[in-house]
Amino acid sequence: MSLEGKKIILGVCGSIAAYKSLILLRYLTKAGADVKVILTQDAQKFVGKLSFASLSSYEVLTDLSSDDQWKNHIELGLWADLFIIAPATANTIAKCATGITDNLLQAVYLSARCPVMIAPAMDLDMWAHPITQGNVKKLQSIGVQIIPVGTGLLASGLNGEGRLAEPEIIYNYILDQFNKQSDLKNKRILITAGPTFEAIDPVRFIGNHSSGKMGLRLAEAACQRGAKVDLVLGPVNENHQQINGLSIYKVVSAQDMMNKVQELENLSDYFILAAAVSDFMPENVEQEKIKKATAVPIIKLKNTPDIAQWLGMHKKNHQKLVGFALETNHVKENAEAKLHKKNMDMIVINSPRDEGAAFGHDTNKIDILKKSGEYISFELKSKRELAHDILDEMLKLG
Ligand code: C5P
Repeated sequence: MSLEGKKIILGVCGSIAAYKSLILLRYLTKAGADVKVILTQDAQKFVGKLSFASLSSYEVLTDLSSDDQWKNHIELGLWADLFIIAPATANTIAKCATGITDNLLQAVYLSARCPVMIAPAMDLDMWAHPITQGNVKKLQSIGVQIIPVGTGLLASGLNGEGRLAEPEIIYNYILDQFNKQSDLKNKRILITAGPTFEAIDPVRFIGNHSSGKMGLRLAEAACQRGAKVDLVLGPVNENHQQINGLSIYKVVSAQDMMNKVQELENLSDYFILAAAVSDFMPENVEQEKIKKATAVPIIKLKNTPDIAQWLGMHKKNHQKLVGFALETNHVKENAEAKLHKKNMDMIVINSPRDEGAAFGHDTNKIDILKKSGEYISFELKSKRELAHDILDEMLKLG
């Protein structure tokens, strides 16, 4: 893939590995990218501004307090298709994680609307320190991609983890990132998310604790990758941003959700059913609020329409169906039975028993089972990262 016309900001921090950024810059410009370089004050102690200027067709930026460059930081943040900080020191990573903005690089970081990648470089103890690891996790949880550090001889003479990834490795991560920005282009994805509320009377309902977070993160990730997304969303409190390509349809009950899905079904290439649809609804909805009487009311329930089952029966060959299973016991067996019964192509399994997983959390622990029998387990991660993992596996379905 060429990087022709891609706009990249390369941020360089004060590290002995800064010389490797010159090689990375060369790779990027050779591949056709437009690269603007920002050096921190400390970076300039390791590699001179002139070296970067010679390899880039833009002025090298260094100063938040200079009139021109200060005014530019918002423009720069909007200009870029990608912002990569390589090498990123423990200090810069900590500033990114906390929002400290005492130099141009940090101001651009906070203004950037594009994907951000960070390639750390530091001594092994600084890298292993719980504070650094905590900062890295925090950045990952908001969607910053951390390029894994290398292992080997460090500038301190110690041996271990903390080396800046080699320039060609960073370059490949950048290529992958751009690939991802368009791998769902021209695809339309229907996502259901959140709980459904089934009315008992005008004020009461049967519901559940689903926050809609996993479905929202999936919708955002799919849009970032170029898809057009129809999100059919049950009643949730979660905030959602306006993003290009995302249409949100708010519904309340399982029947509302079913109606919307049936309306959109024909347009979709993929269905991802992350909604925790209520399985039961009252047979009759009382028109008036049920009075508290001496006898406790008995509410007769009936099944809600099964959206997954309906899609499984009606989907065409080119349409793929991805379901979710939230199980508390016999997790794998139940998920497998569900996959076959509902004619799904893939099922995402999560168990509310896993620490930090499922309802309401920003993290989740999932396994994926495919119709082919392939079974993949993922570590506990942010729902944002898992959304991309799920989309990666979904794309492999064809
Ligand atoms: O509720 P259950 O565990 O059977 O859910 C499995 C999958 O089926 C989930 O993807 C869920 O969104 C979907 N489902 C649905 N309509 C229902 C019940 C479940 O689409 N009425």
